[in-house]
Amino acid sequence: MPSVVNSHNEWDPLEEVIVGRVEGAAVPPFDVAVKANTYPRYWDFFERHGGEPFPEELVRAAAADLDELCTVLKGEGVTVRRPEVVDWSRRYETPDFASSGLYGAMPRDFMMVVGNEIIEAPMAWRSRFFEYRAYRELIKDYFQRGARWTAAPKPTMGDELYDADYPIDAVEERHALAAEGRFCTTEFEPCFDAADFTRMGRDIFVQRSQVTNRFGIEWMRRHLGDAYRLQVLRFEDPNPMHMDATFVPIGPGRVLVNPERPCLDLELFRRSGWEILTPPDSLIPADHPLYMSSRWLSMNVLMIDERRVLVEKHEEPTARMFEQLGIRPIRVGFRNFNSFGGSFHCATCDVRRRGELETYFDHGDPA
Ligand code: GLY
Repeated sequence: MPSVVNSHNEWDPLEEVIVGRVEGAAVPPFDVAVKANTYPRYWDFFERHGGEPFPEELVRAAAADLDELCTVLKGEGVTVRRPEVVDWSRRYETPDFASSGLYGAMPRDFMMVVGNEIIEAPMAWRSRFFEYRAYRELIKDYFQRGARWTAAPKPTMGDELYDADYPIDAVEERHALAAEGRFCTTEFEPCFDAADFTRMGRDIFVQRSQVTNRFGIEWMRRHLGDAYRLQVLRFEDPNPMHMDATFVPIGPGRVLVNPERPCLDLELFRRSGWEILTPPDSLIPADHPLYMSSRWLSMNVLMIDERRVLVEKHEEPTARMFEQLGIRPIRVGFRNFNSFGGSFHCATCDVRRRGELETYFDHGDPA
């Protein structure tokens, strides 16, 4: 019997997917980790509204985008599951900090499927401490139907996890620190967001980012064991958070690399004959609100299989790129959802793709 949870890469035929929910979303309290990953033009918004529900009209419009995404996925033959609706504006206090929540809109950040296992990420934002509450009904169900289920060690998120001296306002300094692998999270305890990983069969890639530290990467390496090679990729990016608008595989042997965040570790890909593709610039208008992301959400696509991809309907150059590659773009309006920090890849977590665990790289191992 094939497992109810089974996914080894980003492109095998998609059979079942979780699509997030934006209802109940709250503006995260404006702490150092949030500041490190948001843009100065929105800092006033976070200062004034941290802890409040996101404006209702934004939530309603984004929820409609998600509903449309679900309809399209179902039309393509994919089973869609949704998390619980939670009121994320409720305040909470642990022995180490007080906060309120964010949302259950981005399953990609919270959970990772590796083979038949669901791994809950020990995320670094205090506003995401209780994000698992949106997904537990789903995960219990998958577990009861045979999936493996692991929650990585929950961080305390005490002050020691954050570098109080991190130069939030000094962009040049952040560039220099990023080159040394230093970000706003320390190595006090393991933390990672699942979206800092990308799965390509037996090879899984990860970046050290504002929310994923080396301790978290090491936890994952030992957890995955000998069946996988977990490799750290470095990018010229002063502000990394989530790899899926930076380095996006679109099939066995093809990867999109963000031209503003060059990858410093492409040797394995070149040696293995992978095509390194530069996606076109995003068409998100300069005045479109993007509270928690860059404009590169245009490359945050979801492969339905090697021949079908979800592309935002205004991103015609990206759609044309896929057509030229022989991949059919399925255009879906997602601009309202984009304002919450993600696009199709962020908003989903593929639970089951039809395929086996394979190797796509030449490691030069002895035969
Ligand atoms: N979090 C990815 C980006 O903002 O581009």
